[in-house]
Amino acid sequence: MLDRVADENLPVRIELGVRSRTGHSWHRQDGMNDAASMPSPEARSSGGSSERGRDRIVAASEEGAWAGAVHGGVALAEDVQGEAVAPVSSAADIKRLARAFRASKVLLTAVELGLFTVLAAQPLDADRLRDRLGLHPRAARDFFDVLVALGLLRYQDGTYANTALSAQVLDRAEPGYIGAAFERHGGRTYDYWGGLTHALLTGQPQSEARTDDDLYSALYNDAEELRAFQKAMTARSAPAASVLAERFSWQDHRVVVDIGASEGDLLIRVLRRHPHLTGIGLDLPAVRPVFDEYVTAQGLADRLSFTGADFFTAPFPAGDVVVLAHILHNWDLPTRRMLLRKAYEALPPAGQVVIVEMLIDENRRSAPALLRSLNMLIQTSGGGAFTAAEAGDWLAEAGFRQVRVAPLSGAESMLVAEK
Ligand SMILES: C[S@@+](CC[C@H](N)C(=O)[O-])C[C@H]1O[C@@H](n2cnc3c(N)ncnc32)[C@H](O)[C@@H]1O
Repeated sequence: MLDRVADENLPVRIELGVRSRTGHSWHRQDGMNDAASMPSPEARSSGGSSERGRDRIVAASEEGAWAGAVHGGVALAEDVQGEAVAPVSSAADIKRLARAFRASKVLLTAVELGLFTVLAAQPLDADRLRDRLGLHPRAARDFFDVLVALGLLRYQDGTYANTALSAQVLDRAEPGYIGAAFERHGGRTYDYWGGLTHALLTGQPQSEARTDDDLYSALYNDAEELRAFQKAMTARSAPAASVLAERFSWQDHRVVVDIGASEGDLLIRVLRRHPHLTGIGLDLPAVRPVFDEYVTAQGLADRLSFTGADFFTAPFPAGDVVVLAHILHNWDLPTRRMLLRKAYEALPPAGQVVIVEMLIDENRRSAPALLRSLNMLIQTSGGGAFTAAEAGDWLAEAGFRQVRVAPLSGAESMLVAEK
């Protein structure tokens, strides 16, 4: 499975943008990912990454075609196979975009109702499918037929059936299920996005964070919600975690600490691939039962432990590598800085911090990352996406050096820096 996910991402066509010394113009340099691993510190040191300052030009291509670098003058390598959101070029495109929420909600609702899982057992005619899902007769046919029209179902000989693709990725029983991330959109996230105008006018979140400063304590009050959230995190983050397991120099390290580890999927993928490693997942104490259950089910309980702690008050456990995957974007700037300081304190000299995020490109034209940033406006009190250069500045302030950036999967990237 790990190999398959990694293979799907290779080769990856990338663009490297390098900011010029004198201004903000960007030069494109195209390269093909040759599946090389992250360059060694020695190889990197020639890239001039020790020098701070935004105007420093870093010739990322010198370090390997895919590996961007560095603090100041960050060259962001972008996986253009990622979550592309095509820009509009006609009135028809604009109309399509304006109405896209309808088709989106049809898919989300079908996933929420478990329609694809029901049809995985056997194809059903309209009446029996309606009965199984408990739908009102008025619109059931339209709902099923639009799923056919969207290419998500087949209709043949009077019955509805999954397409090969739906069967593979939308049936909850399949290992390739991607719907866990959508189930939550189908519920709370979709509704909260209805408050976008209000969020833009006020800067206020539209989620549980609207009434409770701490989104997570509100979320985790409900055990079902907590479990659904952790499953959604695993579903969303697994592709990037799989590539991270392949492309970071794990052989140089022994103990990996994952801050905000959720149910532990990233550590599981890394430790499975690298048997010499042990791991520590830090997350809020409420997460322990799902972490323990998942890690035990994956047979890694002997190498992977859980620290239940609040990272606002507790220090990070010591380790050779500290991972912050999809953590910084949840919080305001002082919190991001505090977390990077704690990462620095937890590491030995030459220890590495690894940040996994969907980064905004330096030109601020990457729709997926910008949409994720707006999602953070909707969901959190102070969160938002950021560029590699911004993160490079915070890393340098915390004391880190040799900041590098490289693509993982989709629009996700890793930033790596050394103590
Ligand atoms: C957006 S999720 C990211 C999960 C995972 N790293 C990933 O990449 O999918 C953020 C995680 O941070 C954890 N978290 C939030 N506040 C925390 C705190 N104060 N202390 C420790 N963990 C916290 C949450 O419980 C959640 O698992």
